[in-house]
Amino acid sequence: MAGRNAAGGRSGFKIYLFWAILALPVPWMALSHLRDRKFDLVLWTGDIAGWLLIVTLCITPLLLLFGPLPGLKISRRYLGVASCLYTLLHLGIWLVHVSPRAVLQSFVRPGVLPGWLALAILLPLALTSTDAAVARMGTGWKRLQRWVYAAVILSALHWLLVTENLAMAILSFAPLAGLSLWRFWRNQRRYGRSG
Ligand code: HEM
Repeated sequence: MAGRNAAGGRSGFKIYLFWAILALPVPWMALSHLRDRKFDLVLWTGDIAGWLLIVTLCITPLLLLFGPLPGLKISRRYLGVASCLYTLLHLGIWLVHVSPRAVLQSFVRPGVLPGWLALAILLPLALTSTDAAVARMGTGWKRLQRWVYAAVILSALHWLLVTENLAMAILSFAPLAGLSLWRFWRNQRRYGRSG
């Protein structure tokens, strides 16, 4: 079916367009940095990776709240992979600016260690996000994907501990925190009563 073909046709075009939109911050950040050397690429790539992860996790509660919204379920996977790619960019840019000694020390820095741990979770999740991996792993795939909740908690910890703009970090996580509380309350009402 044309509408279901991920590699070609109309849906293939939509996927490329979606990836092109997700990639837009890259030339914007590069140009901003060329114009103003004080434009901090580590901070911005970190912010974008964090926001993408937050949006990825907001999708399930939004689907529960508003019902099936076209394209939202499938975009969840791409957004998660994009978050991992921006994290790798964040890490790559940071690595070229610091000494090997600072890299070693980062593993015992309470603010940075959660970032490393979050990446260690995000990487296998991104690598197993292809249709082939989903089919091959069966029910194990869902179990593995649940680790994304640990990744977002570690990312939040990392963000809150390293940022100088605490208000922005809190505001960024507020929608996800609100939706998660609502989901918890909904599950309590639904399943708590029968238990
Ligand atoms: C791979 C391991 C990681 C390392 C080594 C790392 C390193 C850093 C460092 C050193 C900073 C502070 C930069 C500065 O103060 O100039 C930072 C900030 C940040 N990182 Fe990471 N990070 C990692 C993973 C992550 C992950 C997984 C996320 C989220 C998905 C993330 C999101 C952020 C955010 C949002 C900031 C703060 C930006 C701000 O203050 O606006 N980082 N990171």
